[in-house]
Amino acid sequence: MLNSRRALVAAVFILIVFFLITRSHDSSSGVAPSNTNTEKTSSSNNGGNAADPPADPPAAAAEIPPEKPKPAPVQKPRKDMSRMSTYDKLAYAYPYDVDTKFPAYIWQTWKYGPAQAEFAFGEQEASWSDQHPGFVHEVITDEVAVNMLRLFYAAVPEVLEAYQALPRPVLKADFFRYLILHARGGIYSDIDTFAIRSAVEWLPPQIPRETVGLVIGIEADPDRPDWAEWYSRRIQFCQWTIQAKPGHPVLRDIITRITNQTLEMKRSGKLASFLDKNIVDFTGPAIWTDTIFDYFNDERYFDMRDSTKKIDWKDFTGMETSKRVGDVVVLPITSFSPGVGQMGAKEPDDPMAFVLHNFEGTWKPESERHIGEQQVVM
Ligand SMILES: *[C@@H]1O[C@H](CO)[C@@H](O)[C@H](O)[C@H]1NC(C)=O
Repeated sequence: MLNSRRALVAAVFILIVFFLITRSHDSSSGVAPSNTNTEKTSSSNNGGNAADPPADPPAAAAEIPPEKPKPAPVQKPRKDMSRMSTYDKLAYAYPYDVDTKFPAYIWQTWKYGPAQAEFAFGEQEASWSDQHPGFVHEVITDEVAVNMLRLFYAAVPEVLEAYQALPRPVLKADFFRYLILHARGGIYSDIDTFAIRSAVEWLPPQIPRETVGLVIGIEADPDRPDWAEWYSRRIQFCQWTIQAKPGHPVLRDIITRITNQTLEMKRSGKLASFLDKNIVDFTGPAIWTDTIFDYFNDERYFDMRDSTKKIDWKDFTGMETSKRVGDVVVLPITSFSPGVGQMGAKEPDDPMAFVLHNFEGTWKPESERHIGEQQVVM
């Protein structure tokens, strides 16, 4: 089965990456007894079920000796991509196939790793592991992020240039979540979130998993006349938690947009004077929301012949259950924002509450609310 093989290749690749990174920081790390490795290798070769996540925690990656044969190339064989658009390069490097399983990865980012004394999110991080036994769960630090991106996006150098050029850690953290999900899929969630329920329960049973490639939640549905003082968009999709299959067109599109804008600003010398108030629009919920609405109204992906009007915020306001648009499932505000006490969000003990985000001051202006997030250093 192609899919399971791909999942295995991905798993082996990730293990190797972590091994290389670990090695480069600790040249003294020992080599484990070879029978451990033999076991791992053979179980990898026999594993035929793509639903089964890679079983080895990445810490074990340090046990794989360097002599181990290289995994199959992750990206397709080279062809001359230099004249392709960024969007086409991304599609070529990471083709989207809705008919696969959601990869069993949980990605988080923080300036410290869970093994470091400074790591202050042990409880939050544990909630994700507890709810997702068998998933590969990674907290990616700055250095690791840069190295992963170099490997994953070697064929799309402008993406790497844009990532390097982003002037603020919070912008890099935003960009990274789209990039890792586009390359590997799975779940991204901010380090300060608690998993209330397993992602296995996020989709209602009647929706076949092989028809969904992106699961998103609502961050804000401010039904009040002065909403624009508080939010950039009347309906705002949240990007602190996202589940995706690799190569999803929404991710491809937002990566292309951020790359383009960043490099345009870099070339015109405006990046240096980049102001805080633009941050939300530049990489955060505003551009995320716009990209998703553009996707919903994109004739390349949706048959628009019978539609009488564009899909817009009115299709998502006041939602109490999940709603499906093509291959995207939109969860109600309660799912990723329970307990905020407004905008129709119910409490964290509601059956639709999946992720808890400790987000103080929801009714502060966005620029102020995001000050705390700038501590997310990448
Ligand atoms: C950004 O996109 C515009 C419109 O497609 C294009 O003309 C421009 O060359 C792009 N800029 C960069 C730096 O890629």
